[in-house]
Amino acid sequence: MEKENLLEISNLKVEYKTDEAVVYALNGVGLEIKRGETLGLVGETGAGKTTLAMSILRLLPKNVGTVREGSIIFDGKDLLCEREDHMLVYRGKRISMIFQDPMTSLNPLMRVGDQIAEILELHNDEKLTQEQISHKVDQMLEMVGIATERKNDYPHQFSGGMKQRVVIAISLACEPELLIADEPTTALDVTIQAQVLNMMTDLKTRLAHP
Ligand SMILES: Nc1ncnc2c1ncn2[C@@H]1O[C@H](COP(=O)(O)OP(=O)(O)OP(=O)(O)O)[C@@H](O)[C@H]1O
Ligand SMILES: [Mg+2]
Repeated sequence: MEKENLLEISNLKVEYKTDEAVVYALNGVGLEIKRGETLGLVGETGAGKTTLAMSILRLLPKNVGTVREGSIIFDGKDLLCEREDHMLVYRGKRISMIFQDPMTSLNPLMRVGDQIAEILELHNDEKLTQEQISHKVDQMLEMVGIATERKNDYPHQFSGGMKQRVVIAISLACEPELLIADEPTTALDVTIQAQVLNMMTDLKTRLAHP
């Protein structure tokens, strides 16, 4: 039997309304992703890649960005019909997102280890103790190749590539079923870009076959 789609987007139409004009950002986009599959989206600037990512998590700017038509079926449920408070279960837990610039995703005033712990505490369905959470933070740092001794450092003490590794550690901490990466390496220099992409591929293989 063919595996069911984890994500199925059909005929998605999104527009932005500003004072000057209406921008038709997505005009009937469709795609399918099965569990364990990787899908790359290519398009020139302004093509609507970020808009698509934001639509999935229902994070389009309020009163400006609107889904006009279509469906976003995740694991059998249309996210566009879910209650707003229900979306909190999806965001960061079942579906996680890595943004372009690590500096806008990390809190500059918080130690990196605490930022990984924060997401684990927010979605702590397994009722992990503080000690177990701390252990998991160490595991996540090791997984992305950062020495655990650095967990008490602040983001500004890390290089660009290391910051993006921390972002990836945060995004994978809750073992999401779907990881959306919106140009996760654009802010990095070319050699670090390759490292981060290789690491993501490697993590995908390891998480799929533990
Ligand atoms: N908040 C907004 N208000 C009005 N228009 C917007 C807004 N955000 C995006 N747009 C418009 O929607 C279209 C798609 O933008 P989007 O950011 O999704 O493109 P992108 O493919 O991610 O581009 P890039 O590769 O530059 O990141 C563009 O025409 C853009 O100007
Ligand atoms: Mg974009």
